[in-house]
Amino acid sequence: MKIQVKEIQLNVEDRGSGQPLLLIHGFPLNLEMWRPQIEDLSSSVRTIAVDLRGHGLSPPTPGPYPMEMLADDCAAVLNAFGVKEKVVVMGLSMGGYISFALYRRHPQLVSGLILASTRAGADSEQGKTNREQAAAEIAHKGTQPMIDRMLSILMAPKTYQDKPELVQKVAEIISQTSSAGMISALQGMKERIDSTSFLDQIQVPTLILHGLDDQIIPLSEAESMQTGIPAARLETIPDAGHLPNLEQVEIFNQAVARFLETV
Ligand code: MLT
Repeated sequence: MKIQVKEIQLNVEDRGSGQPLLLIHGFPLNLEMWRPQIEDLSSSVRTIAVDLRGHGLSPPTPGPYPMEMLADDCAAVLNAFGVKEKVVVMGLSMGGYISFALYRRHPQLVSGLILASTRAGADSEQGKTNREQAAAEIAHKGTQPMIDRMLSILMAPKTYQDKPELVQKVAEIISQTSSAGMISALQGMKERIDSTSFLDQIQVPTLILHGLDDQIIPLSEAESMQTGIPAARLETIPDAGHLPNLEQVEIFNQAVARFLETV
């Protein structure tokens, strides 16, 4: 369903009832990456999944997209739906960067955090240069080189070997993202602030989920978040790369369901 948020119509999927769980996707994906979570978890909680601006069925706007802007979009979606109770926010990778911004700016909205395949730190100087080069490449050659590069590292070796249909599905999801959406998100991620010094101020229960074969964000980043956040638990997921929610659906969903019962 399309929902008017500020100047833009965002695509949002609202399923189930009860405890609200906000789902924030990673780059350069869209809410379809949460399909197994929406299908499974919406029988016991209310899942609200957003296509961030410039992704999926939400149109691009002029960039960059700072993480704070995307977090405010998510807060505005909750407001537009009239969600009164606090929500558990689940963000994967870039969705995790946005979750930090959301908690910093709207702590009154959040009852718990699920941080999947993400990190608290900002980009290194090399990381920023890589973002600039990637954005320039997309501007000149379109999204395909970026799609190919990401597709080769997003998942675990075992996933590439055993689940070609999943790899194909992820390729389809990424292919829906426009050049403008990708460039604006890259610019926003490049400028994001370091959330490390803010970790000890997170006062809600936090579940950190990380694939043991993540080739994009190392496990040490998840361990640092666990050390920094007072009420955090880390669960690692074997035979999963950067998309453990798709690569090991059962393990991922069970961990989320267990956590939701405690919040
Ligand atoms: C993501 O999956 O959202 C991105 O890989 C995050 C990033 O590029 O830092």
